[in-house]
Amino acid sequence: MTILIKNGRVINPATKMDEIADVLVENGTVTKIEKGIKAKADREIDAKGCFVMPGFIDMHVHLRDPGFEKKETVETGCRAAAHGGFTTILAMPNTKPVVDNADVVNYVHNKAKTVGIVNVLQVGAVTKGQKGKEMADIEGMVAAGIPAISEDGKSVMNAELYREAMAKAAECNIAVLAHCEDINLVNGGVMNEDAHAKELGLKGITNSVEDVIVARDIMLCRDTGVKLHLCHCSTRDSVVMVKYAKEEGVRVTAEVCPHHFTLTSDDIHKIEPSMDPEKKVAIEADADTNFKMNPPLRSKEDVQALKEGLRDDVMDVIATDHAPHTFADKNTSMKKAPFGIVGLETAASLTYTELVEQGYLTPMQMAEKMSYNPARIIGLDKGDIAPGKVADIVIFDPKRTYTIDKNTFASKGRNTPFHGRKVTGKVRTTIVSGHVVYEENA
Ligand code: DOR
Ligand code: ZN
Ligand code: ZN
Repeated sequence: MTILIKNGRVINPATKMDEIADVLVENGTVTKIEKGIKAKADREIDAKGCFVMPGFIDMHVHLRDPGFEKKETVETGCRAAAHGGFTTILAMPNTKPVVDNADVVNYVHNKAKTVGIVNVLQVGAVTKGQKGKEMADIEGMVAAGIPAISEDGKSVMNAELYREAMAKAAECNIAVLAHCEDINLVNGGVMNEDAHAKELGLKGITNSVEDVIVARDIMLCRDTGVKLHLCHCSTRDSVVMVKYAKEEGVRVTAEVCPHHFTLTSDDIHKIEPSMDPEKKVAIEADADTNFKMNPPLRSKEDVQALKEGLRDDVMDVIATDHAPHTFADKNTSMKKAPFGIVGLETAASLTYTELVEQGYLTPMQMAEKMSYNPARIIGLDKGDIAPGKVADIVIFDPKRTYTIDKNTFASKGRNTPFHGRKVTGKVRTTIVSGHVVYEENA
C-alpha cells in the first residue's frame, strides 16, 4: 500500500522542517519527503493548503474500558481519537478493575490491537486498586508494556508511598503522570472558588488544592530523579513552579488541556430546573454540568498564565483529559454530576483557534506540544515523520471553519462545553502506520 500526500505544508519538529513538500508512504513507513515526488501510488491525497504533521499523541485519555463501557469502550475511544487527529493515546488506569497488574494491561492492549484503529498505550496505576495504601505491581506492568504510572482521578496522598513508587518508576525508566489535587483541601468543592461560585451557591475549589501537590511532587521528583509529568495544570502558580523547577534542573514536564486555556469559571451558566422527558421527574439541574471537570475552569488570570506558559515552552504538552460520561450521569446537579468532559474530537481545532490564530503558538509549536514532546516524554519513537519513521500522520486544514456539533462525535460521550462553538482548523485525514483511519466526510 502506497500513499502519496501532495503539496502539503510539512511540519516536522524532529527535523525542524516547515516547508511545502510531498510525502511518500510505503508499507507503513515514510520513505520520502521532497518537492514534486513522482511515484505510482495506490492513493494520492491533495494536501494543498493543509498542515502535514506527525500524528497527534494524547497523553491523557479515559477509555473507561474495562468496567464503564456505557461511557466509552476501547473501540469508540479509538475512533474518537482518529477523528481528532490522534494516532497514539495513553489510557488512564481508573477503570473497573483498576489497571494495577499486567493482566488488565494486556486486556486493553489486546482489545486495542483487535480494534486496530490507533495505537493505545495503557498507563498503570501507582497503588493497588488506586486505594493509596500499597504499591501496584509496577514491574509486572512495565514488562507488559506500560510507558508510565499514574493515580489519575486523584493524588497519592501518602508522600512516602508516592516517593517509593517514583523511585521504582525511575528504576524502570518510565514516567509518572501526576494528577495534583489535595483531597483534604477539596472539601466538597465542585467549581473554582470565586465570586461566580458564590453567585451559583456552589462550593469552591481553591488554586491551592492543585498548587500544594504540584510543589510536593516537584520536590519528590528532585529526590528520586524520576521523569515527572504534571497532568492538566490549571493554575498560574503551577506555571510559575514548573518554570522554577526547570531552571533548577528538575526533570519535570507539564500539560495543559484545551478547556483550561479556552474557558473560564465565568462561562459556567445557570440552568433552570426542568423535567426529564423520559422519567417525568424533576432534574436537579443548577448549572451546566458539561462545564464540570477536575481541575475546574479557573480565572482569566490563570488562563492567561497557561497560554503564556505554552507560548514560552514552560508548558510542554497539550493533552485532552478526555473523560466521557453518559447523559444520565451528567443530567443532574453540579454537586452530584461526575467531573469530566470529552476532548479528543475538539482538541486540535481549539488549539489552533485559541493559540495558533491568536499568536501564542506557531504551527511548529502546535506539532511539538501535540505530538513530538509527548513522544519524547514517554520515550516513544514517534512524533517524527522523517524518512524511515512510521507513517503516523495527520493532515490538518487551518483554513476550515466550522461549528462544533456533539452529535457528530464518534465518542459515546457527548459531555462537551463546546457544542455550538465556532472554531477554525479541522482534521482532514488521520493515518496510522500507513493506513487511513479517518477521513473527513468519509
Ligand atoms: O475531570 C476529570 N475526570 N478529572 C479527573 O481527574 C478524572 C476524570 C474522570 O475519570 O472522569
Ligand atoms: Zn486527573
Ligand atoms: Zn484524567
